[in-house]
Amino acid sequence: MENNRGQWASNFGFLMAAVGSAVGLGNIWGFPYKMGSNGGFAFLLIYLILVVLCGFVVMLGELTIGRMTGKSTVFAYTELSKKYTWIGFMGVASGFVILAFYSVLGGFVTKYFISFLGEFLKLPFGFNGASSGDYFGAFILNGPQTVIFHLIFMLFTIVIVMGGISGGIEKFSKVAMPALAVMLLIVIIRGITLPGAGAGLAFMFKPDFSVFSNPEIGFWKVLRAAAGQMFFSLSLGMGCMITYGSYLSKKESLERNAVIIPIADTIFALCAGLAVMPAVFAFGLEPTGGPSLLFVTLHEVFMSMGVIGPIFGMIFYLLVVIAAVTSSISLLEVCTSYMVDRKTLKGEKPNRKRIALIIGAIIFVIGLPVALDGLGSPGAVMEGLVFGKWIWLDFYDLLSEGIMMPFGALLMCLIMGWHIKMDRLGKEICVDGNSFKSKGFIDICAKFITPIIMIFILVTQVMSFFGA
Ligand code: TRP
Repeated sequence: MENNRGQWASNFGFLMAAVGSAVGLGNIWGFPYKMGSNGGFAFLLIYLILVVLCGFVVMLGELTIGRMTGKSTVFAYTELSKKYTWIGFMGVASGFVILAFYSVLGGFVTKYFISFLGEFLKLPFGFNGASSGDYFGAFILNGPQTVIFHLIFMLFTIVIVMGGISGGIEKFSKVAMPALAVMLLIVIIRGITLPGAGAGLAFMFKPDFSVFSNPEIGFWKVLRAAAGQMFFSLSLGMGCMITYGSYLSKKESLERNAVIIPIADTIFALCAGLAVMPAVFAFGLEPTGGPSLLFVTLHEVFMSMGVIGPIFGMIFYLLVVIAAVTSSISLLEVCTSYMVDRKTLKGEKPNRKRIALIIGAIIFVIGLPVALDGLGSPGAVMEGLVFGKWIWLDFYDLLSEGIMMPFGALLMCLIMGWHIKMDRLGKEICVDGNSFKSKGFIDICAKFITPIIMIFILVTQVMSFFGA
């Protein structure tokens, strides 16, 4: 069975894949803006507390359940108890939904990389002098284009997952992540050396605890923003880390890995902020949230840099494409590994390539409404709101990030604290002489602290889902 499933070739390779999963669009466009508009340092402080009290706990829990059972999400839960199987299915369902919109956005980023390449090489597929707002507006209304780029991104993801664990995901991540770090550094250096960059640093880092008493924002809203961001950013709550943990060798330290991944993810998020915000302010622009930051505002930033702009634009969007791909492969892997394990357990020989292709094709179709509704702009191929309320992107995001993931993480935590319990967990963690120094801390968090925070997050999410 081991051969059919595959295994990471090294702990470094596993770390690159896991950090690659964590570092993605969430870090680059979510974090800098959320931090800046929620009190800067005040947000960071809450974020860090949540990473320790929830992120680390759920990360360790997921990795341990994965390695202990040696199975992907659904079958890992089934092995703990038949009555938990549906939690695994909820994770796989989240994988379908998240990847559906993630791939459309990945396609957008790919399009911008190509456009900056065209601009740099002075070829006709550059921006041709269009203003950033017009260019983006025209692109998202161009159905064939958004669909083709969604397809390209999805195919890229499928091909890597087809290669398997060590030969596909690990091999790609081991090259992609260091390259990503280098490119990020180049863009940061350009950004913070621009005249006027200081305002961007102040936007992100200036401690502004008055947000807590600001009637428009307030403590709870900051907490909610930080919590949602943290789960999404760390790829938690849907079994991604269970799946990645199931391919990990018994000799590696789960505890150490569960510390390194959140730290690396937070460093990447802060660096993404340094790459983006100083430059935005240096050119006198206002930071925005959501897609317009990444496409409209940053397009304008790079075009304002003069002749070197297209080069930095190209590097930046390539970096975002890579970050998105190392995340999308982890999402496709959650769904693929379910089918691989299912076939294996039935005694059949799974054909990973075929499974990845079929699942990828289904997810591509699920993503089509996101690609075709023009993010709600009038005149799109597929106009119309879900329940008369949401554009498809926000609907998929609410469903997965807003509800299924925090719910999955809450249940995982309770199972870890009350069903598996620390002794059994510790046995797996300490296999091969590794330590479990945080045992007492994890025990209290998994049983009480993390679930309480999770319930709070879930209640506020459900309330916003139903329009309160
Ligand atoms: N963490 C990634 C990001 O920040 C997205 C992602 C990858 C993800 N795998 C996931 C989110 C699993 C939730 C669950 O962009």
